[in-house]
Amino acid sequence: MELPFQIDLRGKTALVTGGGGVLGSCFSRALAACGAKVAIMNRGLEKGEHVAGLIRAEGGEAMAAACDVLDKDALLIARDAVRTKLGPVDILVNAAGGNHPAATTDDEQFGSAARAARDFFSLAQDGIRHAFDLNYLGTLLPTQVFAQDMTGRPGCCVVNISSMGAYLPLTKVVAYSGAKAAVTNLTQWLATYFARTGPRVNAIAPGFFVTDQNRALLFDQEGRPTARTGKILAATPMGRFGRPEELLGALLYLVSQEASGFVNGIVIPVDGGYTAYSGV
Ligand SMILES: NC(=O)c1ccc[n+]([C@@H]2O[C@H](COP(=O)([O-])OP(=O)(O)OC[C@H]3O[C@@H](n4cnc5c(N)ncnc54)[C@H](O)[C@@H]3O)[C@@H](O)[C@H]2O)c1
Repeated sequence: MELPFQIDLRGKTALVTGGGGVLGSCFSRALAACGAKVAIMNRGLEKGEHVAGLIRAEGGEAMAAACDVLDKDALLIARDAVRTKLGPVDILVNAAGGNHPAATTDDEQFGSAARAARDFFSLAQDGIRHAFDLNYLGTLLPTQVFAQDMTGRPGCCVVNISSMGAYLPLTKVVAYSGAKAAVTNLTQWLATYFARTGPRVNAIAPGFFVTDQNRALLFDQEGRPTARTGKILAATPMGRFGRPEELLGALLYLVSQEASGFVNGIVIPVDGGYTAYSGV
């Protein structure tokens, strides 16, 4: 796989939650291409096995672990399996996350059109809880489980995945935006908490990337861009979606002790200028 630059992760073990997803698989392959042994954790085994197979075909070492990031007991079992096969985790990338349709309104503003089928008043509590659990708890619990092997071992780090919704909420996606703001906040909290012993804890805030979880929002069934895509691209000064590989420079910088050993608690936006643009 093509990398923006090389760093040496030989001797390190990395674990990527959501490693079977579009961004997580790109992260997993990049870490392996730098020499890390990589555990790909996903809810089901199939997607993780696929990515592990790609890494092995590229000459790397990888294993897949089926585990729900919200199941602490399953996380502990997965930790033991990864420890046995690849050693204690040095690098944790918390890339499992996403929105839930039941936590998304159909309307951007109340009263701007005919009453929407799902407006703020009809959002289901379960959907809101799902978005908060997956993004916030789904970052906190794996960190609780895997960071235990990182304290007092120099060079360990955690990279979380925040979002543009953490800076200013995105219309419609109320709970996802709130949960990602909480991920940014958790990143800062953990960075402070572990600062004396490690791991370092930082985050990446991707702009807009076309992946499985948002494709239906961004393109219609004929593959034509939706009105939402038009708004996103108009708000992104570079006028296009990001490519997953364009997140790798930030990832490799944050996991490299040599490059970012004194960098702790930051969030790097990789967004084509989205956060810099007022919209006017
Ligand atoms: N795509 C974007 O534009 C964008 C922007 C900002 C942030 N993000 C974030 O990037 C991360 C990766 O998302 P993606 O866009 O690659 O989406 P994706 O849907 O391709 O990947 C998410 C992966 O997480 C896995 N997953 C979901 N719930 C899980 C659970 N409970 N336990 C274990 N695994 C679980 C899914 O199976 C999937 O493989 C997410 O946190 C997402 O919120 C994405």
